Amino acid sequence: MAKAKERVSIFDTTLRDGEQSPGCSLNRREKLEIAHLLAKLKVDVIEAGFPIASPDDFEAVKLIAESVKGPRICGLARCLEKDIVRAADAVAGADKSRIHVFLATSAIHRRYKLRKAESEIVKQAVASVKLARKHCDDIEFSPEDASRTELPFLAQVVEAAISAGATTINIPDTVGYAIPSRFGELIEYLFEHVKNINDATISVHCHNDLGLAVANSLAAVENGARAVECTINGLGERAGNCALEEIVMALRTRADLYGHLKTGVRTQHLHNTSRTVSRLTGMSVQRNKAIVGANAFAHEAGIHQDGMLKERTTYEIMRPEDIGIDGSELVLGKHSGRHAFRHQLQGLGIKLSSSELDDAYVRFIALADKKKVVYDDDLISIAREEMEETPGVFMLDYLHVVTGTDTVPTATVRLKKGKETLQDAGCGDGPVDAALKTIERITGVRGRLIDFNLQAVTVGKDAMGEVTVRVSIGSDIVSAKSASTDIVEASARAYLSCINRVLRDRASGKKGKSSARKPRAA
Ligand code: KIV
Ligand code: ZN
Repeated sequence: MAKAKERVSIFDTTLRDGEQSPGCSLNRREKLEIAHLLAKLKVDVIEAGFPIASPDDFEAVKLIAESVKGPRICGLARCLEKDIVRAADAVAGADKSRIHVFLATSAIHRRYKLRKAESEIVKQAVASVKLARKHCDDIEFSPEDASRTELPFLAQVVEAAISAGATTINIPDTVGYAIPSRFGELIEYLFEHVKNINDATISVHCHNDLGLAVANSLAAVENGARAVECTINGLGERAGNCALEEIVMALRTRADLYGHLKTGVRTQHLHNTSRTVSRLTGMSVQRNKAIVGANAFAHEAGIHQDGMLKERTTYEIMRPEDIGIDGSELVLGKHSGRHAFRHQLQGLGIKLSSSELDDAYVRFIALADKKKVVYDDDLISIAREEMEETPGVFMLDYLHVVTGTDTVPTATVRLKKGKETLQDAGCGDGPVDAALKTIERITGVRGRLIDFNLQAVTVGKDAMGEVTVRVSIGSDIVSAKSASTDIVEASARAYLSCINRVLRDRASGKKGKSSARKPRAA
């Protein structure tokens, strides 16, 4: 009889560790949209946020817990009573909930960050797990910076946390320092030295500072870990986390090695989920990114194309359709009706309210007038901007730029804020600089452009240019994307979007992403 397959649980932390990526900020509606997609993808656990971090984080976790069905909904907490109680309140409405408590264990964190002795760490971990257990049956404990913790002490903490009631022990490579062979040995060591290890699921959480997050996670799985924490597109602190799409496809594609293991992920939704997360977070996916990058299934070299035509498996280890690329993208044009437009958006997983749909359709027709064909990515850009526009913020109403080799680049900008119309003109080093400076003069908000990226959304000379900007405004770092056939307009819209985000967050009392007062986890 065939041996039953063992489950590798997929714990998605896009909405917690992923959302902590510098410049990546999501509002409640966006978080909920991502959580629904993760449920459709059939991840096992969604870490929806860090409820103590801000009222907004709390509300987002609560909303997801109450409305997203399927996966277990988890809230993060430090080993502090106030954090645990807040996390418990946030996830209470879920059908299946989890509280994830963490406490650093490495010598460097004990000495410099916590200023605590080993015995105090064990005591605090045990007390916190016990307290969390009073609120929830499913408790995860993470010894933060585990990969740099002395092995005997790590085993001691893990054993104590399991005895106190932890049902999952997560081993984080917090600073991305681990090397696959050693990380695998670390997991093996725990299996050999922790007496009650079989009373909990062993999970791993790897950061990608050395580009080894997926490799380390695989090594851990090879040595007995049965849960992997990961994020869509590998988002996360600094260089990010283990990419969900990569670990899932590695386990599936190398069935020769991992055939006894299975995840529940519906891989045919990976592509769409990746695109939506990129669109909502404003974090572009590099073209050559494994699995979901635009080039991941593109074959350029003649020899490769020839091989592909003769037999696909000569150069392709996965089929594009396995991750949801069906190759039959329907293109719309200016004769496409509102119904086809809505249908296409729905197919991309985008739901707009009826007034948003009306406005988006007007934009679509305007774009279709300029371009012969409008591709899915064009539609995604249009819809994203529509969803971002909320009353009370600045909207671009008119932009005129004059530029050339012998001209001082000048921009005239008209913005609308509610019923108010504001207009000014200014010059700069180039047309983009002139437009952004003029926007700053009108809005009274000054920012520093940290990053500017321009990419063609689709193919052809008439393709929309997608501009991604990262801007530092006061203590906030925000990013936004915009697309247009006019790249100066796209730059102005993206910049304005950043200004609007910061103004909205300030009005709602939400602290900036880079605010030192907001508790953060690695
Ligand atoms: O990287 C880390 O250590 C974390 C913990 C909270 C699991 O994110
Ligand atoms: Zn982390």
